[in-house]
Amino acid sequence: MKNQDIAKAARSSRFPKSIFFGYFGALLLLSGVHIALLLGMQRAHFNEILLIHVILIFWALVAGGLTLYTRHQVRKTYELPMLRLADAAAKIAKGDFSVRVEPINDREKFDYLDYMIEDFNKMAAELGSIETLRVDFFSNVSHEIKTPIAVIQNSAEMLKKPDLSEKIRQEYVDTITNAAKRLNTLITNILKLNKLEKQSITPNVSEFDLCDQLVQSALLFESVWEEKGIEFEADIADERRLITADAELLPLVWNNLLSNSFKFTEKGGTVTLREYSGNGKVIVEVQDSGCGMDKQTKKHIFDKFYQGDTSHSTEGNGLGLALALRVLQLTGGEIDVQSEPGRGTKFIVTMNI
Ligand SMILES: Nc1ncnc2c1ncn2[C@@H]1O[C@H](COP(=O)(O)OP(=O)(O)OP(=O)(O)O)[C@@H](O)[C@H]1O
Ligand SMILES: [Mg+2]
Repeated sequence: MKNQDIAKAARSSRFPKSIFFGYFGALLLLSGVHIALLLGMQRAHFNEILLIHVILIFWALVAGGLTLYTRHQVRKTYELPMLRLADAAAKIAKGDFSVRVEPINDREKFDYLDYMIEDFNKMAAELGSIETLRVDFFSNVSHEIKTPIAVIQNSAEMLKKPDLSEKIRQEYVDTITNAAKRLNTLITNILKLNKLEKQSITPNVSEFDLCDQLVQSALLFESVWEEKGIEFEADIADERRLITADAELLPLVWNNLLSNSFKFTEKGGTVTLREYSGNGKVIVEVQDSGCGMDKQTKKHIFDKFYQGDTSHSTEGNGLGLALALRVLQLTGGEIDVQSEPGRGTKFIVTMNI
């Protein structure tokens, strides 16, 4: 639609009728003046040399006037907007993404210059939001790194005290080990996300059995569901479901969905992993009877570093679902979530077979 508009604007500006009629009218009028001058001077018996000079001066003035008028129009219509655009581009180059350029015409009279200005404004807005994301990303990373480092520093200071009981000493050592593990997971996840976000990464596609992969992922959590007394059910409808996808990336999705379900479900709750297929699609669901999420949380769960449930925020960094989403975008899969506070959560992943 927009491209057609631009083509139409460019076509109609190739022979602007208003300029043609404007110049035609002006030249007719000036020719009239020319004839009137000529007749008037002949009638007054002007000498011929003077007559030619007057006519030449008249047309020189006309040519000068038209040149100045055309120059003024070109400056008003093209040069000034271009200068404003160049000015704005220079500001963006210096890092000011708040600049916007006013279009020249009203929307219904937009020409290709207006479309160019509009696209320029969109580009500036887009660059601005990327910059905000980048700044947010760095402040989040710094925060996530500072917290475990402060914990390690404090515990190490405490360990220096001479007469500590063996139990307390062990507690400090455990705290340090956990904080170091947390740092390790954080850095690993940031590196993974960075790798996945590079446009160049192409999934390493092969054919494999999804059901087997799901069971392997679930088994990683056996100690967690036993320790927390959670009832885990694997409801795998297909005996074997061969799919063509990246067999190394997809476990990131299942592991994170399962880890979230076990993390946000209290003792005695249930977690179900379901798989079924039909209509050329395979569907994987991870459902839990845990704390659930409100609307506000649901809106942000795929944002990097977002953690909705503050009571669990010491576990993880809020990168799991951002990673899962990115993997599914690369694999061509979709993820959906149904959740209500206090009534559990269900994540639904759909992929083509
Ligand atoms: N099954 C679930 N039940 C309730 N809330 C959930 C569930 N899954 C995700 N959430 C919410 O979404 C937020 C983001 O999840 P995400 O997996 O990205 O981060 P995380 O689990 O907190 O940390 P990480 O995955 O880095 O260990 C969680 O902090 C939580 O608030
Ligand atoms: Mg998670």
